Parts: sequence; structure tokens; C-alpha cells
Amino acid sequence: MSETKGPSWLETSDPQHFINNAAKFGDLMMMYRCAIREIRTKLEVLDDEFSVEYKRNPISFIKTRIKKPESIYRKLQKLGCEFTAENIRTKLNDVAGIRVVCAFIDDIYTVADLLANQDDIKVIKVKDYIKNPKPNGYRSYHMIVEIPVFFSKGKTPVRAEIQIRTNGMDFWATLEHQLRYKQGIEEMEGYDSISKELLKSAQAVIEMDNEMQSIKNMIGKFHDI
Ligand code: GTP
Ligand code: MG
Repeated sequence: MSETKGPSWLETSDPQHFINNAAKFGDLMMMYRCAIREIRTKLEVLDDEFSVEYKRNPISFIKTRIKKPESIYRKLQKLGCEFTAENIRTKLNDVAGIRVVCAFIDDIYTVADLLANQDDIKVIKVKDYIKNPKPNGYRSYHMIVEIPVFFSKGKTPVRAEIQIRTNGMDFWATLEHQLRYKQGIEEMEGYDSISKELLKSAQAVIEMDNEMQSIKNMIGKFHDI
């Protein structure tokens, strides 16, 4: 029987060692949960302010997630790094993930700018897959940010990945993700035509997003929205 090899600290026979390391991992995940809470609050404050001023919400919804331990382990392994707290903090940018789904394309840039201009947020990296969509049709605005989280012993900078997209982009990406993760789909006969269809549907979403944006721009000539 073949055994899968886990992180070294999981293979120890010393229970105290295991407990100490498990506690360390728990602390680290708590830090990521706190960073997510802070960023979520910042986004909710911006959305609230906007709704008072313009009587509409630029943010439709926010979804957050913490990367699962086995995914953290697999990604570090792929990078050729050991499963240590130091490597998790310095090598991975997406342990904390925040997805912000906006009404219109320009809301995405408004939210991104307002967030980036807050002086406790440091933008580490931006990938604009809206101006430069991926060849498969994927579109979203990605930011890697660092935010200080304050604990009793001081503050710690914590990284998070923020994906900002419209409802349309989210609809497409969610379905595409579900299809892509079907086992062996890439080897399946006719996969090329499936990819073409997916790209075509991404195109339809782009048209719809652009159409809604131009309607908003037309209304915006008469009202601040
Ligand atoms: P990862 O190793 O997957 O995190 O990619 P990366 O470090 O090159 O970052 P990138 O900004 O390209 O992608 C990060 C995340 O965006 C992914 O984990 C997905 O959640 C999302 N994403 C990127 N490309 C696609 C795509 O083609 N389809 C879908 N549905 N989601 C995507
Ligand atoms: Mg990722």
C-alpha cells in the first residue's frame, strides 16, 4: 500500500511536538481570518458610504475563504518549499482570499482605487485580467495586498488576495471553474470545442457588462450615480 507523505510535523510520534506545531498553524490561520475581517469591514464601509451618497450599492456581495491546509501544503510542495509558518507567510499570497462582486465595470476600479489609497493597505501586486483577459476568457481584477493586523503583542503584516469582478464575470468564472475541475476534462474528446464555447460565452458576458456600463454612463449624464 502506498502512503502519501504529509508535512514533517504531522509525522512526529511526539504528541507535544505535534500539539505545539498544530497550535502554531492555528495561530497563523487566525491571523489570516483577522486580515479578512479587516478588509471585509473596509469594503462594507465604502459600500455604505456610497449607498448614502449615491443611493446605490457598488458592491453586490463579498465572499471570503481561507485556503485549506492540504491546498497550502500542495502549493508549497509545488514551489519546492517546506511546510513551515515562515514559508506560508512569505511564499503564498492567497491563503486569505476575498472576492468582491460589483454591479458595474467602473465600480471595480472605484473600489480598487479607494482600497489601494487607504494608508494602512500596501498593494503588493495587481493583475488586471479585465484590460488583459486570459486566453480562456477569464476576467477579474486581482490585487495582492498587505494589511497590518493588531494583536496584544504588536502588529503583523498579513497578505491577502482580493479578486474584484462584476456579477457577469463571477457567473462565468464560477461555471468555468466547475467545468474545469471535472476530472480529465482536458483529455476528453471535443474539449477544443468546449473551450471555444466557453470563450464565446465569455464574449457574451463582456458585451452585457459593456452594455450595462454604457446605460449607466447615459444615466450618469443626468444624475450622479
Ligand atoms: P494560482 O496559483 O492559481 O493562485 O494563480 P496565480 O498565482 O498565477 O494567480 P492568478 O492571479 O492568475 O489567479 C489567482 C486566482 O484567480 C485563482 O486561484 C482563481 O481563483 C482565479 N482564476 C485565475 N484564472 C482563472 C480562470 O481561468 N478561471 C477561473 N474560474 N478562475 C481563475
Ligand atoms: Mg490561488
